[in-house]
Amino acid sequence: MTDKLHEQKILIIDYGSQYTQNIARKIREAQVYCEIHPCTMTWDDIQNTKPHGIILSGGPSSVLEPEAPLCDPRIFEMGIPVLGVCYGFQLITHLLQGKVDPADKREFGRANLIIPETSLLFEDVKNETTVWMSHGDRISKLPTGFKASAHTENSPIAAVENPERKIYGLQFHPEVVHTVEGRQILDNFLFRICQCERNWKMDSLAESTIEGVRVQAGDSRVICGLSGGVDSSVVAVLVHKAIGDRLTCIFIDNGLLRAGERDKVEKTFRDNFHFNLVVVDAAETFLERLKGVTDPEQKRKIIGNVFIETFEAEAKKLGQFDFLAQGTLYPDVIESVSFKGGPSAVIKSHHNVGGLPEKMAMKLIEPLREFFKDEARLLGRELGIPEDILQRQPFPGPGLAIRILGAITHEGLEVLRAADTILLEEIKKAGYYDKLWQSFMVLLPVKTVGVMGDSRTYENVAAIRAVTSADGMTADWARLPYELLGNISNRIINEVRGINRVVLDISSKPPGTIEWE
Ligand code: XMP
Repeated sequence: MTDKLHEQKILIIDYGSQYTQNIARKIREAQVYCEIHPCTMTWDDIQNTKPHGIILSGGPSSVLEPEAPLCDPRIFEMGIPVLGVCYGFQLITHLLQGKVDPADKREFGRANLIIPETSLLFEDVKNETTVWMSHGDRISKLPTGFKASAHTENSPIAAVENPERKIYGLQFHPEVVHTVEGRQILDNFLFRICQCERNWKMDSLAESTIEGVRVQAGDSRVICGLSGGVDSSVVAVLVHKAIGDRLTCIFIDNGLLRAGERDKVEKTFRDNFHFNLVVVDAAETFLERLKGVTDPEQKRKIIGNVFIETFEAEAKKLGQFDFLAQGTLYPDVIESVSFKGGPSAVIKSHHNVGGLPEKMAMKLIEPLREFFKDEARLLGRELGIPEDILQRQPFPGPGLAIRILGAITHEGLEVLRAADTILLEEIKKAGYYDKLWQSFMVLLPVKTVGVMGDSRTYENVAAIRAVTSADGMTADWARLPYELLGNISNRIINEVRGINRVVLDISSKPPGTIEWE
């Protein structure tokens, strides 16, 4: 990535929305370079960035609050296009003499957007289109010099614009997948309004990234925690290509993995890639420490701590390491930036097992820091990582521990593992695995009555959770065929001792979450 390609950039100012990264991802998908900065960014810094366009993101605040995060109104005088999304839209209204009021009803989820007139921002978008709303406040008076360009049933002003000043605002989120024509709307902003060119490409990505690692590591030894997921696999292969046997990978079996997972990692990375791979069986330690624990956050904390302790102890045995290689992706970087610099909805904080680098006083190698997940996948493909690893559905760090509701037992793990194996087999057989973001079973601490042959059973309920999603931030429950659901249920009830009833989770996110804990 040369500097020339960074010359044209879109600046995203982050007000803490959980969707801010989606905006960046969508822009990069359109091959335009962009950067996310916290809303505390100074006026000087904004000017120095020399953006081609500015996007003000959504966020959890209300402009009606006294402490609401603002922006320097001089950005509206720079002559460059500005797009406000949700909170950003209300901010534009608020700062340019419009009026924002609390709505009587919060508007949440899908809405039908009506676009009565043509607008550059809605070019090639249907006159009626589905969009995703998520807001409490609404606009009751247009900002000076603006006109309303779209409405929904609950928001008479769902989009505003002042084309002469190139300022646009959207009450809804064009960056989430549920806004059906969001791609077109963002493309219109980038190419028709900001006049950007598609010039951000990741040429010979693998080569330059490997070279970067080689330079950074020098003659040092590097250690890496390998989980078998996409990110850590790509990082490990990159570093291995750069420094060979000076990389040691540690795979920790925490006893909370799915059936066959450990074997697969050993086979792929030890046998095929010839890694220096150390496999640690720490299942008993994890399960002992989790005994009787029912609170989800407590489970995560314990698992995080035991992971760090185990990793540290193992690394010590292996000698001196100067670097820890980690699969940090761009969204993780942005998340920590907005935590420090601005307001944020602390939604994903629990997802990362932090603390390892601080604890071990090692320098970090994070070759994926600039990449989004799909870009990491692309890189993995170039590196020859098998498709079944690259296309793996995400699996959470705490593993099956957050899919057994309540206390975790050996027996519960075995039952869940067996049910999950069946679900995955059936989903794959029916050709659905790649179409779903995640599909898994959840074991409930609820017993119900059933009959099996001539006798009465009194066993647990398990739930099928299958979702479609572009990034895990929003998700919809998957409409799986009845036939497939029937096969999964029949097989689980017949083959797995300990489950006599299977139910289906039909909640979307938000307001639900993908995992149950
Ligand atoms: P939720 O349940 O918050 O999940 O809708 C969104 C995505 O994150 C995964 N997830 C986790 N990943 N540690 C992880 O590494 C965690 O504690 C954790 N909790 C949820 C979840 O599987 C989904 O892909």
